[in-house]
Amino acid sequence: MELGLTGRRAIVTGGSKGLGKAIAAELLAEGAAVAICSRHADELEETAAGLRAGTPDGRQLVALPCDVTEPAQVSDFTETATRELGGLDILVNNAGGARPGRFATLTDADWHDDIEVKLLSQIRCTRAALPHLRASAAPRVININALYARYPDPAFLASSVNRASCLSLSKALSIELGGEGILVNSVNIGFVETPQWRNIHRKRAPGTPASEFFGQLAQAEVPLGRFGQPEEVAGLVAFLASDRASYIAGASIDVGGGMGKYL
Ligand SMILES: NC(=O)c1ccc[n+]([C@@H]2O[C@H](COP(=O)([O-])OP(=O)(O)OC[C@H]3O[C@@H](n4cnc5c(N)ncnc54)[C@H](OP(=O)(O)O)[C@@H]3O)[C@@H](O)[C@H]2O)c1
Repeated sequence: MELGLTGRRAIVTGGSKGLGKAIAAELLAEGAAVAICSRHADELEETAAGLRAGTPDGRQLVALPCDVTEPAQVSDFTETATRELGGLDILVNNAGGARPGRFATLTDADWHDDIEVKLLSQIRCTRAALPHLRASAAPRVININALYARYPDPAFLASSVNRASCLSLSKALSIELGGEGILVNSVNIGFVETPQWRNIHRKRAPGTPASEFFGQLAQAEVPLGRFGQPEEVAGLVAFLASDRASYIAGASIDVGGGMGKYL
């Protein structure tokens, strides 16, 4: 399927590892120019070098440090990335992380931090990108959210509650911006094996082999019986970014191997 992404320009926040790295690689492979950011410059540069090495000549990969919870950094990153890419067609709001914790243990500071990195980062990155997206012939905003938004887990309470507000943001923005031809969609992740889950494994059950730890979680929750891989998310994001998704807006699509007992 020809996606028509050649020459398109994309920002992927949190592109140094995990889902963001896989999404950046997929967009590059489809011919887009891509800018990634994250907080840790060394890791970001290492990832950028790897992505560039695997990319055909002539495709651009820009990597700039940025903390998406810092408004000034978001503005600077968006402006510099857009200038270097020569414009902006696609924003993938992916930066974020898991915050395990139940009601009794989560402090106000935990809630604030989680809102900053999940909801407010999407608001700020979208606000900064909008003037540039308005100049695009095929503008897209794709928000990476969590299936827990629709299927809350008390053990990941802040993530569940804050991702629900992210879904509302995606839907409301898709309505507000649809008239301008800006397509906003949400991709809701179930369990995908990335560094954030590898950290949870190290903290919760360092003595248990990873295959057993992930396998037990998946058997309990996921009809397909396994964790997903980042590449299994990246294909959908590339599709939503593409010309083939030109009539998809306001959608909230789960990538969770069937996880989630709801309609
Ligand atoms: N994997 C899953 O099963 C799963 C499930 C539900 C939702 N999600 C969501 O999917 C997204 C990607 O998750 P992942 O599993 O790929 O996580 P990951 O492996 O931890 O990667 C997260 C990426 O975001 C960056 N990041 C985190 N905080 C940031 C900040 N304040 N500013 C800029 N960059 C930041 C990280 O780099 P630095 O740390 O260097 O900044 C990294 O590049 C997240 O929003 C996550 O909540 C994932």
